[in-house]
Amino acid sequence: MPDTVDLGQSTMGQAPLGPAPRHVAIIMDGNGRWAKMRGKPRTFGHSAGVEALRRTVEAAGDLEIPYVTVFGFSTENWRRPKDEVAALLELLRVYVGRDLDRLVRDGVRVRIIGARAGLAPDILGIIERAEMRTAHNARLHLTIAFNYGAQDEIARAVRRVAEDVATGRLAPEAVTAEAFASRLDTAGLPNLDVLVRTSGERRLSNFMLWQAAYAELVFVDTLWPDFDRGALEAAIADFRRRDRRYGGVARVE
Ligand code: IPE
Ligand code: IPE
Ligand code: MG
Repeated sequence: MPDTVDLGQSTMGQAPLGPAPRHVAIIMDGNGRWAKMRGKPRTFGHSAGVEALRRTVEAAGDLEIPYVTVFGFSTENWRRPKDEVAALLELLRVYVGRDLDRLVRDGVRVRIIGARAGLAPDILGIIERAEMRTAHNARLHLTIAFNYGAQDEIARAVRRVAEDVATGRLAPEAVTAEAFASRLDTAGLPNLDVLVRTSGERRLSNFMLWQAAYAELVFVDTLWPDFDRGALEAAIADFRRRDRRYGGVARVE
C-alpha cells in the first residue's frame, strides 16, 4: 500500500462510493408473514404489498433509477391455495389496470415479462393495454415479472434459438451470450446491478438466473409491505459501498 492514496474523494478509511445503480430488481417477499403478524388473512398482506409497490416505484422515479424490475408472481406460485392465487392475479388488475393513468402520467414504461400461456384473456388484455399506453414513456422502465420463472424463460429462449437455427436465420456459431440474451423476455434491458430480497429469505427462488450474473445481492429483513423510500435508499447505499470486480481486480488496493 502506498502511504498516500488520493482518489479525489474523502474516504476516511472507507472505500469511495461506486456509481448509482441503473437497474434495481426486487423480490417482494413477506406479505403473508406481515398479515399473519396482524392476525389477518394472507391476502390482506398482498393488498398492503401493492401500496409498498406504489411507494417504491414513486421513490425510484424521484431517485432517477432508470430500470426497476419486480417479482410479482412466480411460475411456482400456482401451488398456493386457489383463493390466494386468485388474489395475487387480482393484484395485477389493481396495480397495472387501475393505476395505469397515473403510470402514464408519471412517465413510467410498463413491461410485463413471464409466460403468457395460461393467463386469462382479461389479464392478457390488461397487460397489452398497459404496455401499449406506456410504450412512449422513458423516465422509468418498470418491468413486472408475472407468471415468471427464470428456468421457464431460459427454456423459451432456447426454443427460439433452436427455431432460428432450424430455419437458417441463425448459424450455430452465432449462438453467443448476446444472441441468447436477445431472446430472453428481458431483451433490451441492462443486466441487474442490484437484486434486493425482502423478508430475510436468502434465495433467488427462480428469479433472473441469467440476468443476475453480476448483480450485488442485498437481503433485508423488512417485510415487503413495510418497504418504503428509506428502505430503497438504504439498499442503494449498501450497493454503492460494494466493490464490483467482474473477475478483475479491486477498485482500491
Ligand atoms: C410475497 O409474499 C408475495 C408473492 C409471493 C407474490 P409472500 O406471499 O410470499 O409472503 P410470505 O413469504 O409467505 O410471508
Ligand atoms: C418469490 O417468493 C416469488 C415472488 C416474490 C413473487 P416466494 O415466497 O414464492 O418464494 P419461496 O417459495 O419462499 O422460495
Ligand atoms: Mg414468500
